[in-house]
Amino acid sequence: MVDYSKFYSKLAVNIKASEVRELLAIISKRKEVISFAGGIPDPNLLPKDELAEIARDVILRYGNIALQYSETKGVHEVRETLCGYLYKKKNINCDPEDVVITTGSQSALDLIARVFIDPGDLVITENPTYLAAIGAFKNAGAKLIGIPLDENGMKTDILEKKLEEMPKEQREKVKYIYTIPIAQNPAGVSMSLDRKKHLLEIASKYNLLVVEDDPYSYLVFDDNVDKTTLKSLDKENRVIYLGTASKILSPGLRIGWVISSSDIARKIELVKQYVDLHSPTLSQLILSEAIKQGVIDKVLAKAIPQYRSKRDTMLKAIKEYFPEYVWYSKPIGGLFVFAYIYKERFDAGLLLKKAIDEYKVAYVPGGSFHVDGLGRNSMRLNFSYPTYDQIYEGVQRLAKLIQET
Ligand SMILES: Cc1ncc(COP(=O)(O)O)c(C=O)c1O
Repeated sequence: MVDYSKFYSKLAVNIKASEVRELLAIISKRKEVISFAGGIPDPNLLPKDELAEIARDVILRYGNIALQYSETKGVHEVRETLCGYLYKKKNINCDPEDVVITTGSQSALDLIARVFIDPGDLVITENPTYLAAIGAFKNAGAKLIGIPLDENGMKTDILEKKLEEMPKEQREKVKYIYTIPIAQNPAGVSMSLDRKKHLLEIASKYNLLVVEDDPYSYLVFDDNVDKTTLKSLDKENRVIYLGTASKILSPGLRIGWVISSSDIARKIELVKQYVDLHSPTLSQLILSEAIKQGVIDKVLAKAIPQYRSKRDTMLKAIKEYFPEYVWYSKPIGGLFVFAYIYKERFDAGLLLKKAIDEYKVAYVPGGSFHVDGLGRNSMRLNFSYPTYDQIYEGVQRLAKLIQET
């Protein structure tokens, strides 16, 4: 037998499993387990008939393009359609030349890390933040600095103080501030307009880039939430904007997009040339047709009320069954509730196996979303995928787990 260990790179030796990906693989085989784990859209909201028709039409009409290799940045007409959509929906002014279509926004996070990070460089994030962004940045050798959030998003006063107090040579190593300003994953909060402006002022003052990850601004349920994108406020072209079709159309298409300056877009394109040549041409054309035919708008018209009512169901069940020492978020949008269990020695990571095997319920341990090793007493609960009955039953199972351990 070959001992492979001497062949592995430092990255392969040190890489940690993505808890969500591993969990999804286990749970998909265990139908009796109620899963609050992945950020998975409700299967009933996937526009199967519409996409089947579009896919057939795209292949028959544009087969010589759709089934072929295409430009690394993405099919030009698709980038044009996307820019039109982003202008209409998000007030983002983009030129197709500044767009790179990626294989989901996860691949954009990885490409951005490769473009900007040398080992030892610093990235500032919200704390907690999206676990697979933490993974992508760390794989590139970044060290992460976490900034706490409250119901108005990242606490930009703390961000400013931190940068102010940093020794200059350390500050020079900060490459970008990564933020999910609207319906943040996992915290479920949105940044106020004042803080968005403050964040951009800080980026300008300290000459930093901002990576704005925006999968969830389409899925905001409450009024009075500021949905202005940082990119639409960005006068200095510091913001690198990431979007995705995953939560608003279909994650299986694996299509995301990055809007940046032409300079940065070119660097991302060059790195992408060696990663995957280009993202799937067929998926790109399906996305473009779906935008033109209003399919995304139709999905959203159903998804917003449905996710709102699933969120309400989860919050109602939590209120009814969780003990009073649990603090939980009241998300204004997105797909998740985040909970902290203030019980001595409660460790959601250590308890996960027991939760799945004995209580038949799964969640993502909250420690994975924290950049500082804290949050072991927290968990993220998804409400978009389970049915209403499963939400109610799953919360009761979790409540038992919390009370009995
Ligand atoms: C904040 C955030 N960014 C990026 C992604 C990656 O999504 P995808 O690669 O499917 O576009 C997710 C998925 O859950 C997410 O929550």
